[in-house]
Amino acid sequence: MTWILPTRSGQYVVAEAPRGAGLVFVGWGPSAGEATAPVAATSSFEADLDLLPLEATALGTRNVHGAELVVRRADGVRGARLAVSGEITLERDDDGATHLVAPLADDVLGLSVRLHIRTHPGHDVVEKWADLHNDSGESIEVLRGWGGAFNVPVDGGASVELLGGAWSREFTPFTAELAAGTLSVGSRQGITSHTYSPVVTVAPAGADFGVRYGVALGYSGSWRMALDAVPFADHVRVSAGPDDESGILTLAPGAGLTTPTLAGVRVEGDADDLAHAWHTYQATLARTRGPEHRPVVYNSWFATTFDIRTEHQLELARAAAQVGAEVFVVDDGWFRGRTSDHAALGDWEADTDRIPGGLGALAEGAKNLGMRFGLWVEPEAVSPDSDLYRAHPEWAHHVAGRPLETLRHQYVLDLGRPDVEEWVLGTLRRLLTENDITYLKWDMNRSIADGGQSAVGGDDWSWRHTQAYYRVLDALRAEFPQVTVEACAGGGGRIDHAVLARTDVVWPSDESGPRDRLAIQHGFLGVLPAWTMSSWVTDLPDQLDRDRASGPASLEFRFVVAMAGVLGIGADLLAWDAPTRERAASFVELYRSIRHVVHTGRVRRHGTPADAACAVQYTGSEGADVSDLGLGDAADTVVVLAWRRPGVAPLTVHLRDLDPDARYQVRGGDEVRTGKELDRDGLAVSWTWRDCDVLILDRV
Ligand code: DGJ
Repeated sequence: MTWILPTRSGQYVVAEAPRGAGLVFVGWGPSAGEATAPVAATSSFEADLDLLPLEATALGTRNVHGAELVVRRADGVRGARLAVSGEITLERDDDGATHLVAPLADDVLGLSVRLHIRTHPGHDVVEKWADLHNDSGESIEVLRGWGGAFNVPVDGGASVELLGGAWSREFTPFTAELAAGTLSVGSRQGITSHTYSPVVTVAPAGADFGVRYGVALGYSGSWRMALDAVPFADHVRVSAGPDDESGILTLAPGAGLTTPTLAGVRVEGDADDLAHAWHTYQATLARTRGPEHRPVVYNSWFATTFDIRTEHQLELARAAAQVGAEVFVVDDGWFRGRTSDHAALGDWEADTDRIPGGLGALAEGAKNLGMRFGLWVEPEAVSPDSDLYRAHPEWAHHVAGRPLETLRHQYVLDLGRPDVEEWVLGTLRRLLTENDITYLKWDMNRSIADGGQSAVGGDDWSWRHTQAYYRVLDALRAEFPQVTVEACAGGGGRIDHAVLARTDVVWPSDESGPRDRLAIQHGFLGVLPAWTMSSWVTDLPDQLDRDRASGPASLEFRFVVAMAGVLGIGADLLAWDAPTRERAASFVELYRSIRHVVHTGRVRRHGTPADAACAVQYTGSEGADVSDLGLGDAADTVVVLAWRRPGVAPLTVHLRDLDPDARYQVRGGDEVRTGKELDRDGLAVSWTWRDCDVLILDRV
């Protein structure tokens, strides 16, 4: 029996595996059954199940390929032999998705698994996850609990692209050739991490254009993703889930859990076609993509750090309103005793010595200036020097008997404890109820290096912490739908699909030096969408890109970089003279006139920031309905943001994704050209400013 799950431009096909061993992958693409039939075992060192591209399997079922599920019952029985235990169903969900559910079980062990595969005609992503349930009378340890795998067909080796880096260097691409062996990436830090993003691109080795696949994990705790290439196999198996080195999940008798979702996508095209396929899917994770949850932010951090004083903040707020900010966000430093990063995390009450009148005075001030008011919090953090820690030292993540370690002079609260979760939610609820706050920046500034023991004594601390993080975000969204949430973890330390589904914008990096930022944004946009990409104009220099010959990037350059996503300003506006502020205001106005296309249009990157000149093209429609969460193919308005190192040769951008027969005109010019001509001959960037440009084309 075969099951067909339609995607936007093709289908994903699975069949029943021999001897009831679950589901086997058949094909993925525009036509069904294009993959070759599964092969039979040829030697006594491989069982037939070893060679099959199974959709999900357990240790105990086969032993050449890695398995997604590794379990151990309390009496020492290890592994499971999963077999189909009921009817495999294929149904249409309310939102039009096709949803397959395969019930599998090992009756001897007492474990059941419901494997889910879901596709939607609006996008090309295939989602997989599994519900595990302990039917036995003893505990079952889940040593690895992953929800399925993608068998990526690549004959003759794969070229793998990863995104990783470090604090301030997030979303840097790395490539690896994988012909045989296992490539593994992940985080043991209790958060998604700066080190690796949980997403890979896999393509047949050496191909620039052709079929390529993306696989991404939606999980924000410690995780691992493995790409397993067995010699002579015709596919690379990609699977991922909670990290199996730093944690074990334990299922008590009768208990269950649902694994994080693994998303896979297949495109025929180049890296930007793959980016578009991801963005189209991610549009279904967002509650909206309109300006109501991605306002122009003014954020105090780089201007004032911990020196938060009412009068000074209000002075900044006046300048922010003048340049067109829509929300004024007071960052770290507003609460009792927080005058440096050495103290006070956990004591979430306004420091009335420095903020007489409390947060209300600041919120009122911002509102009177026509802006919303926003606040920074780091709810999971606690300083050793805080009233909270003095009252509840047992609330910090720790391993019994092992001395705690500070990072940035702070500990992390064990959010997986029900009392801590309740306190965190209660604290945020109080802040949002007592004050007119409609923007919350949720930060997290260290890894959970002291994790190792959970509230109930097991080593599932990261899992519990992460589930509580989701519950608090979900509760806030339900109770305070007007509050925009910006996710941050010392920059881009916690960005993944699960975070995208629960927050509105993310802060990709603490690096705001404009050329460095451009490189980070280039990597970001290849797998994540522009409507989430918070980006601020600051006065900070680049840390990495020390191109002294080109001199510092201009103010215009910095604005155009920030306009590539969700524009914000983080510079000390009081240090800017009146003409600079007027200039800034004109850029904010320009951005507001095009942000709809930037946030909802199709993204295409022309060149890379390592080139002498590069551009990003957004193709969409100013009138597109944002309630239609899919990314449409409208090509009515085109925005091109371009940057260069001064003095280099002109840049010609070959515009893609336009309607070939439609006629387009650059705003402010007379020439009218067809989409076909703009693609074939390109559009010469005129460099309105010394090192950047913004070109807008309209269909006429
Ligand atoms: C790290 C964030 O990424 C910054 O934007 C700022 O909020 C600081 N934390 C504050 O401590």
